[in-house]
Amino acid sequence: MSRLLAFPTLILLIAAMGCGDAAEAKSPASSESCRDCHRLLHPRLIADLESSPHERVPVTCDECHGDDHDIIFAVKGAVSPLVCAKCHEKEWEEFSRSRHGRYLKEGKIDPMLREHYVSVGGCSVTTGCHSIQQKYPDGAVGKCGSCHPTHSFSNHEARNPRICLTCHAGHDNQEYEMWQRSAHSLASPSKPGPIADCVECHDTHDVSAGMTHGLSPVTKIDPPLFIPTMGMEEFQAARKIMLERCAPCHGKRFAREALARADLWRRRGAILVQAAADLVTKLDADDLLPHAPENRIPNPALGAKLRLGGAQIYDVDASLPERIYYDMRFHLYPALWRGAYHNDPERVVWEFNDALKTSLDLLRDIDRRVRAEAERREAGK
Ligand code: HEC
Ligand code: HEC
Ligand code: HEC
Ligand code: HEC
Ligand code: HEC
Ligand code: HEC
Ligand code: HEC
Repeated sequence: MSRLLAFPTLILLIAAMGCGDAAEAKSPASSESCRDCHRLLHPRLIADLESSPHERVPVTCDECHGDDHDIIFAVKGAVSPLVCAKCHEKEWEEFSRSRHGRYLKEGKIDPMLREHYVSVGGCSVTTGCHSIQQKYPDGAVGKCGSCHPTHSFSNHEARNPRICLTCHAGHDNQEYEMWQRSAHSLASPSKPGPIADCVECHDTHDVSAGMTHGLSPVTKIDPPLFIPTMGMEEFQAARKIMLERCAPCHGKRFAREALARADLWRRRGAILVQAAADLVTKLDADDLLPHAPENRIPNPALGAKLRLGGAQIYDVDASLPERIYYDMRFHLYPALWRGAYHNDPERVVWEFNDALKTSLDLLRDIDRRVRAEAERREAGK
C-alpha cells in the first residue's frame, strides 16, 4: 500500500472503530478491544507486546493498565511497579532494596537542584536518569521499564550494558565508557557477550549490594560530602559481597588488592578536593575571594553567601576559584575513583589525577596572587 493511501485508510479504520477520539474511548469492554484499537494507533507497540514472554502467559492489557480508560488517562498510562510485583515479588523486593528503587527525598535536594531535575525531566517526572526512581500515585517507587523496555519487557536487553549507558555514561558518570575500556568488555570465549558485563559485578536488581560509597577518611568539608555513610563493619560486609562477584574469575588476593588500589585512589582524590575546599573557604573568610558571592547576583536558592556543593551549576556568574573547585568535586574526583574501580588505568593516572592536581595548583596560584596583592594594598595605605 502506498503511503498516500495508507494514511486516509488508517483514519477511516480508526474512526469506524471509534478509536479516533480519546474522549470516546471510555471503559472498553474487554482486553481484546484494547488491542484492536491500539493496534491501529501504534502497531509497533502491540508487536513488541506480542513478542514478549507475557504473551505466552498471557498477561492482558487490563491486568497492567486496568480497564477504565478514564483512570488510564488520569494517570497518563502509568503502571506502578506494584502491578509487576503481583507476579514478580522476588525481583520487586530485590529492586526495592537498591538505590534505583528508592525515591530521591525532595527535602534532601536543595530547591535549585530540584528545579533542575524537574526541568530536564528528573526524579519526580517521567524521563531523565532519575525516572528509574519514579514515584507512582500508590506510593511505590521505581520504574522497571528503565531496564526492561516497555512492552517487550525483554530480559535480553536488560542484560545488555547499553541499557545502563543512558544514565551511567557521560561527563560525570562515565562507568559505561570506563568499563568499555577495560578487559572486562572484551568478548567472552566461554559464553555469549562480554567477559564481565555490568550485571556480573552489580547483580540484576539490588545494584546497591556490594557498594562502599561514602567511606572516606576525609570528613571535614562544607557541605559534608565526604562524611562516611557506613561504619567499618558495614564496609567489610559490602566488600565481601563484591569480592564474591569476582571469585568465579579471579583469585581472592588479586581481587582484594585490585579493589584496595581503587580505594586508595578515592582517598587520594578526596584529599585533593578537601584541600581545594579549604582554600576557597579561607579566601572567602578573609574577604579575598575575587568576585565574591555578596558582590554578584545572588543564587536564588542560596542567597549571597558562599556554599560549596552542587549549587555552582546554577550560577552563571561564579568566581573562578569556585568554578575550579566545582569541576574538581563533581567531575574529576568521581571520574578518578570510578575509573579506578572499573579498570580504566590510563585515564585515571594521566587524565583525572593529572587534572585534579593541575586544578589545585591553579587554585594555589590564584591564592598566592590574591594574597600578595592584598599585602601590597595594605602596605600602600
Ligand atoms: C475505542 C478505541 C480504544 C480502545 C477500545 C482502548 N483505547 Fe486506549 N487509547 C485510545 C486512544 C485514542 C488513546 C490516545 C492515543 C494517543 O494519544 O495517541 C488511548 C490511550 C491509551 C493509553 C495511554 C494513555 C496516556 O495518557 O498516554 C493507554 C495506557 C491505553 N489507552 C490503554 C488501553 C487499555 C488498557 C484498553 C483496554 C482496557 C484500551 N486502552 C482500550 C483508544 C482506545
Ligand atoms: C506487563 C504489563 C503491561 C501490559 C500487559 C501492557 N502494558 Fe501498556 N504499559 C505498561 C507500562 C509499564 C507502561 C509505561 C508506563 C509507565 O512508564 O509507567 C505502558 C505504557 C503504555 C502506553 C503509553 C506508551 C507511550 O509510549 O505513549 C500505551 C498506549 C499502552 N501501554 C497500551 C497498552 C495496550 C493497548 C496493552 C495491551 C495490548 C498494554 N499496554 C499492555 C505495561 C503494560
Ligand atoms: C499477571 C502476572 C504478571 C504481571 C502483572 C507481570 N508479569 Fe512479567 N511475567 C509473568 C510471567 C508468568 C512471566 C514468565 C513468562 C515465560 O517465561 O514464559 C513473566 C516474564 C517477565 C520477564 C522476563 C522476560 C524474558 O525476556 O524472559 C520480565 C522482565 C517481566 N516479566 C517483567 C515484568 C514487568 C516489568 C511487569 C510490570 C510492568 C510485569 N512483568 C508484569 C507474569 C506477569
Ligand atoms: C537496573 C536494571 C533493571 C531494572 C530497573 C529492573 N530489572 Fe529486572 N532484570 C534485570 C536484569 C539484568 C535481568 C537478568 C537478565 C538475564 O540475565 O537474562 C533481569 C531479570 C528480570 C526477570 C526475569 C528473572 C528470571 O529469573 O528470568 C524479571 C521477572 C524481572 N527482571 C522483573 C523486573 C521487575 C518487576 C522490575 C521492577 C520492579 C525490574 N525487573 C527492574 C535488570 C533490571
Ligand atoms: C569487574 C566488576 C565491575 C564491572 C564489570 C562493572 N562495575 Fe560498576 N563498580 C564496580 C566496583 C568495584 C564499584 C565500586 C564499589 C564500591 O563503592 O565499593 C563500582 C561502582 C559503580 C557505580 C557506583 C558509582 C557511584 O557513584 O557510587 C555505578 C553506577 C556502576 N559501578 C555502574 C556500572 C555499569 C553501568 C557497568 C557496566 C557498563 C559497571 N558498573 C561494570 C565493579 C564493576
Ligand atoms: C534510567 C536511568 C538508569 C538506568 C537505565 C540505570 N541506572 Fe543505575 N542509577 C541511576 C541513578 C539515578 C542512580 C543513583 C541513584 C541515587 O543516587 O539516588 C543509579 C545508581 C546505580 C548504582 C549505584 C548504587 C548505589 O548504591 O550507589 C549502580 C551500581 C547502578 N546504578 C548500576 C546500574 C546498572 C548495572 C544498570 C544497567 C543494568 C543501570 N544502573 C541502569 C539511573 C539508572
Ligand atoms: C566473569 C569473569 C570476571 C569477573 C566476574 C571479574 N573479572 Fe576481572 N578480569 C577477567 C578477565 C578474563 C580479565 C582479563 C585477564 C587479566 O588481565 O587478568 C580481567 C581483568 C581484570 C583486571 C585487569 C588486570 C590487568 O592486569 O590489567 C582487574 C584489575 C580485574 N579484572 C579486577 C576484577 C575485580 C576487582 C572483579 C570483581 C569486582 C572482577 N575483576 C570481576 C574476568 C573477570
